Amino acid sequence: MLIDEALTTTRAVRRGVDLRRPVTRDVVERCLRMAVQAPTGGNRQDWRFVGIDDPGLKQTIADCYRAASVAYLDQAARTADTDSARFLAQNLERVPVLLLPCIQGRHSPTEHPARTASRYGSLYPAVWSFMLAARARGLATAFTTVHLVYEREVADLLGIPYDEVTQGCLIPVAYAKRWFGPAPRRPVTEVTSWNRWRRG
Ligand SMILES: Cc1cc2nc3c(=O)[nH]c(=O)nc-3n(C[C@H](O)[C@H](O)[C@H](O)COP(=O)(O)O)c2cc1C
Repeated sequence: MLIDEALTTTRAVRRGVDLRRPVTRDVVERCLRMAVQAPTGGNRQDWRFVGIDDPGLKQTIADCYRAASVAYLDQAARTADTDSARFLAQNLERVPVLLLPCIQGRHSPTEHPARTASRYGSLYPAVWSFMLAARARGLATAFTTVHLVYEREVADLLGIPYDEVTQGCLIPVAYAKRWFGPAPRRPVTEVTSWNRWRRG
């Protein structure tokens, strides 16, 4: 697959997935081998990835996810995106694999913004690479953060030392039944300026 095609068609795929088709640990780990080519601050590579394919654990995580997303989904305007987000929330435990990307160190609200940027910036490029590698193998993913409202509960469930490790997101992984084309986005000319900040 050409990189431009992967970049323009890697979307939040939540509904158009085959929830019955298993996703092997092997294919997830092959995607992770691509993902860990991503950069980290100081080349620390202090990421950790927890794959979850145990039905009981997925059920508990899905319950946390649902509890956290209910308010957000209820107040969100009803759009195709919220319908799809609602479907994911209602079916998360049925997704074959949940990937939990983590980074060493506990994010604190009082830390310097540069530290926070370095922490999350040392994880999210790898997560996006994982999603691209998955896309190239017919696997759909979605970047989600809503479960982090219950980060501590999920840490306790999985034996993650909460004070030492920050969870970055949760990536459901399933085989796609269909793919979407490029997303409608604000034009680059509207969001880019040169040499000076442009208001508006
Ligand atoms: C930081 C971040 C957090 C997100 N959190 C969630 C989430 O908790 N649940 C969800 O269903 N989607 C979540 N998404 C997915 C976005 O809603 C989705 O990428 C966006 O609507 C654009 O859709 P597209 O990727 O299909 O173009 C998140 C995306 C990002 C980048």
